Amino acid sequence: MPGNTVDGTTARRRIKLSYLDRQFAEVEPYLADIRALVSRGDFTLGEAVRTFEERFAALCGVPHAIGVNSGTDALFLTLRALEIGPGDEVVTSPNTFVATVGAIVQAGARPVFADINASYTIDPDQMEAAITPRTRAVLPVHWAGCPADLAAISDIAQRRGAALVEDAAQAVLASVDGRHVGGWGEAAGFSLHPLKNLNVWGDGGVIVTRSRALDARLRLLRNHGLQGRDEVAVFGYNSRLDSLQALVASRLLGEVEAITARRIENAARLDAGLAPLVGRITLPPRRPNVRQVFHLYIVLAQDRDALLAHLRERGVDAKVHYPVPLHLQPAARVLGYRAGDFPVYEAYCRSALTLPVHQHLSAQELDDIIGLVRDFYGA
Ligand SMILES: Cc1ncc(COP(=O)(O)O)c(C=O)c1O
Repeated sequence: MPGNTVDGTTARRRIKLSYLDRQFAEVEPYLADIRALVSRGDFTLGEAVRTFEERFAALCGVPHAIGVNSGTDALFLTLRALEIGPGDEVVTSPNTFVATVGAIVQAGARPVFADINASYTIDPDQMEAAITPRTRAVLPVHWAGCPADLAAISDIAQRRGAALVEDAAQAVLASVDGRHVGGWGEAAGFSLHPLKNLNVWGDGGVIVTRSRALDARLRLLRNHGLQGRDEVAVFGYNSRLDSLQALVASRLLGEVEAITARRIENAARLDAGLAPLVGRITLPPRRPNVRQVFHLYIVLAQDRDALLAHLRERGVDAKVHYPVPLHLQPAARVLGYRAGDFPVYEAYCRSALTLPVHQHLSAQELDDIIGLVRDFYGA
């Protein structure tokens, strides 16, 4: 649908989910950092990665942060460092990006799903019911930037003798009861993927932990098991955070609070504009003790597919995260789940719709989105 431009001509509206062109329109400061790095030739781990790790740990309020290749590796290496593998089970949420489950499978363990609750995150009671004598870890996912019920989950994990590993890929700066996600259990994995709230120019990830022993083990595993140049302590992987990416991440660490505040503000504006549609739309869940950081703004919508088409035809980059339940994907057949096993999650997959909420949206763009959704429902 055309919209008016300042000179009176019409242009197609395009409200994108990606903001990278806007975020990096002013690229010079990043390039200056990179030029300095190139002049030092400090490409492997080194100062850039160390500085980022120290600052990220401080941001999360934990003593240790380990930069790795990706958010997926953050989870995989954590499971390996905890010596979780064949014969073990890890209870997790099916409401996630496939990487969570891929990391468990590639570590050699069996993923066991538990249904979600109204906050789109793992339901603690269902999680506890899925624990067996083979369970070595529980792995809640802070979906869309909304923390799982960490107080209940960490209590269950401790009582049942399971490690708590948080998938915080989408949740930098989210907190529960004023405590940052990532510090509630043994360790947590964050992603620095280009479309995460704290992002880099390719792949990157970071693990946080309170455990000095786990920190030491993870540093070995991410760098070939090398203890210094000439001693191989264990056989490991090459999963170092790239030094160039560490520079980008460090620069953006100075902005991540503002980015988060803006996303929370934008979510509140969408909430207010869409509130009259409640009944046809379910707004994102709110819990008073929780800071959610709106990596994604997800509503449950009546006639979701028609609303999706309506928005896309009118230039709004709405999306579905994700339409096919993960336990029903071809790759998951070996796990033996069936349609109907996770009714809350399956209903979510049928009605979830993601609307743009990123920090570069203008008030007008947010109001345009709200207007189009209202038009769709004839409100
Ligand atoms: C919930 C969740 N877990 C894990 C990952 C994996 O992160 P990465 O893409 O950095 O490997 C992602 C993001 O892609 C994610 O959204």
